[in-house]
Amino acid sequence: MEKVMVIGAGQMGSGIAQVFAVSGFDVLLYDNNDAQLEKGLAGIQKRLARDVEKGKLTESEKDEALKRLVKANSLDEASGVSLVVEAVVENMGVKTEIFKKLDEVAPADAILASNTSSLPITEIAAVTSRPEKVIGMHFMNPVPVMKLVEVIRGLATSDETYEKVKNYAEKLGKTAVEVNDFPGFVSNRVLMPMINEAIYCVYEGVATPEAIDEVMKLGMNHPMGPLTLADFIGLDTCLYIMEVLHEGLGDDKYRPCPLLRKYVKAGWLGRKSGKGFYDYNGN
Ligand code: CAA
Ligand code: NAD
Repeated sequence: MEKVMVIGAGQMGSGIAQVFAVSGFDVLLYDNNDAQLEKGLAGIQKRLARDVEKGKLTESEKDEALKRLVKANSLDEASGVSLVVEAVVENMGVKTEIFKKLDEVAPADAILASNTSSLPITEIAAVTSRPEKVIGMHFMNPVPVMKLVEVIRGLATSDETYEKVKNYAEKLGKTAVEVNDFPGFVSNRVLMPMINEAIYCVYEGVATPEAIDEVMKLGMNHPMGPLTLADFIGLDTCLYIMEVLHEGLGDDKYRPCPLLRKYVKAGWLGRKSGKGFYDYNGN
């Protein structure tokens, strides 16, 4: 079976590793923070155990999937894989360092994909010697549940790379939608300004977070209100995406709300830090 490597074992990387392993791929999971790697793996085990309880997976399917999922100790282990999916923090400098290294160690025909929410694929590809094999493979959160993979073609991405990645997405039971490389792509160009506007509503005292979320849930049939969703995505990630939209499109309509900046500076990152627009510590 084909081997893939997932880099970053946070909420997205661990979900991506899970769906590849369940779909029969051999998976190497790497994070430069050991505690995060252990937490990511524990989350996968917990979710798969729940799937067994719900009858969505048999005990032996779960065990087989977990056997196929192995921790990697360094990026050098990309030397034996045909696809890498990078899902580290939304920061261009961090991502390009990783892609430079991957370009050195991964087989010449391996595809290097990024799960970036908004950063230019073309710029990430430019630090490698194989821009035709670099692509955006943008999974949605929570990865095991959401059907979409937004596939982003950089300026130099080849048709062959696009077809292969579409094929990978289908093997995971997902639907690939092709988009071109512009800040925020389609998903976050549309979603994130709505979330940012909801944060402005809190900032300007238009309504409480609870009321704003109720309006969007009951009035627009959204499964989660925008502030609950922002906490779920991570407020740091929301801020990075707004900054990419603001800088990349050069229009002030994308300016991040000062309240969002304040929360991120305070370390209120949403669900993952225990506090954001809501409190997740049981207080
Ligand atoms: N991980 C894995 N599975 C999860 C999960 C998680 N974090 N949270 C919920 N689920 C699963 C549950 O196990 C359940 O599975 P079954 O149907 O097999 O029982 C299913 O999802 C539904 O869960 P619940 O009944 O508990 O809760 P719900 O009906 O409220 O649904 C939800 C939860 C699917 C997350 C739903 O609230 C939802 O769709 N929210 C919106 C999510 C969304 O918009 N995602 C996109 C974010 S933007 C993005 O990802 C791009 C970016 O770059 C920022
Ligand atoms: P997260 O904070 O949960 O996890 C990021 C992980 O990357 C952490 O475990 C961290 O230790 C690891 N990391 C940081 N620097 C690293 C490095 N140099 N080498 C290896 N690992 C490193 O973040 P997340 O929500 O999983 O987001 C990851 C990526 O996915 C981002 O690019 C984000 O924009 C994108 N994304 C996020 C969502 C979402 O809803 N949160 C949805 C789609 C895409």
